[in-house]
Amino acid sequence: MSMTALARTALPVEPDHRETTAFAADVVAGLTATPKRLPPKYFYDITGSELFESITTLPEYYPTRTELGILNERAKDIAALIPAGAALIEFGSGASTKTRIVLNAAKGLAAYVPVDISAEFLMQQAETLRGEYPGVAMLPVVADFSKPFELPAVSQGMPRVGFFPGSTIGNFEPHEAAAFLRHAGAILGPGATLIVGVDLVKDEKVLHKAYNDKQHITAKFNLNLLTRINRELGACFDVKCFEHHAFYNRERSRIEMHLASLKRQKVVVCGERIEFRAGETIHTENSYKYSVESFGCLARGADWTPVAVWTDRDNYFSVHALQIKGGPQSRTPG
Ligand code: SAH
Ligand code: AVI
Repeated sequence: MSMTALARTALPVEPDHRETTAFAADVVAGLTATPKRLPPKYFYDITGSELFESITTLPEYYPTRTELGILNERAKDIAALIPAGAALIEFGSGASTKTRIVLNAAKGLAAYVPVDISAEFLMQQAETLRGEYPGVAMLPVVADFSKPFELPAVSQGMPRVGFFPGSTIGNFEPHEAAAFLRHAGAILGPGATLIVGVDLVKDEKVLHKAYNDKQHITAKFNLNLLTRINRELGACFDVKCFEHHAFYNRERSRIEMHLASLKRQKVVVCGERIEFRAGETIHTENSYKYSVESFGCLARGADWTPVAVWTDRDNYFSVHALQIKGGPQSRTPG
């Protein structure tokens, strides 16, 4: 199917069809571009979300355990930034493991709004959380957080605190990260606080190992994207003919993930013939690493004021508290 044919798809369409159409359009656009690329948000079907959870417990993948350590140590400081009756809005909530630290510490929270693109996984996690926190309204939202989306109506009158852990912000290009922060500011409202986890620049060997684990789970996570394209878009990738590549790009302070074609081959995707040279790659993800200062600058440029930053002893990971211009939020009466 060509891009023009996709654009002409008859309207109105069911949300599922619309999502598949957007997925198909993005895949065709990415695979016909030079160099070939695919957006990392498509890693997260149910299998991708489960594989990401396996990554978080790998010995080489330091970000999750390091951020969990910081959040546990600073839980009281974080809770002090959350007004009574607030709604906690999490961008890219996954299994909400880190959120539990905040939910346990901030006793006055009225609602939790996990926002995630991985619909089935999100709904499973929300159901589990409902049982664990009966006093907090669980209001999951399936959405692409890089685009405008509506918060649940009941959370509109509450003070809102944003939570964006995991260094998922590092999967954006820096200019996209700034745009995201502005957009998050608009969603959260004047005076809002945002707690954001940001992975730090460090020894390249540590970074390399984190994305090239011995059990090859990161490789499976990367290759699952091709399996998803085969299943949902009827493509014919031979997954065995592609290989996971991950390396640190020092000039750009980012880990790059690619899928490298092991041979010269042609693959049909949505009716388009995509040709691969031996060794040619599809660029699937960037994971930018910042310094505390460079992330602070990015946040200021997007109209947020850094009010606190916490790191671990090794300076591997940082958690920033940002406040947007406008007075502190309080509960709207009514
Ligand atoms: N916050 C969790 C999960 C991080 S993994 C943690 O810190 O461990 C990244 C999460 O963001 C996944 O759950 C993925 O489904 C979600 N995600 C990635 N891109 C997204 C997008 N554009 N919109 C909404 N969710 C997205
Ligand atoms: C979600 N995101 C911050 C992870 C990262 O480290 O960039 C995704 C990931 N990719 C490979 N391993 C983990």
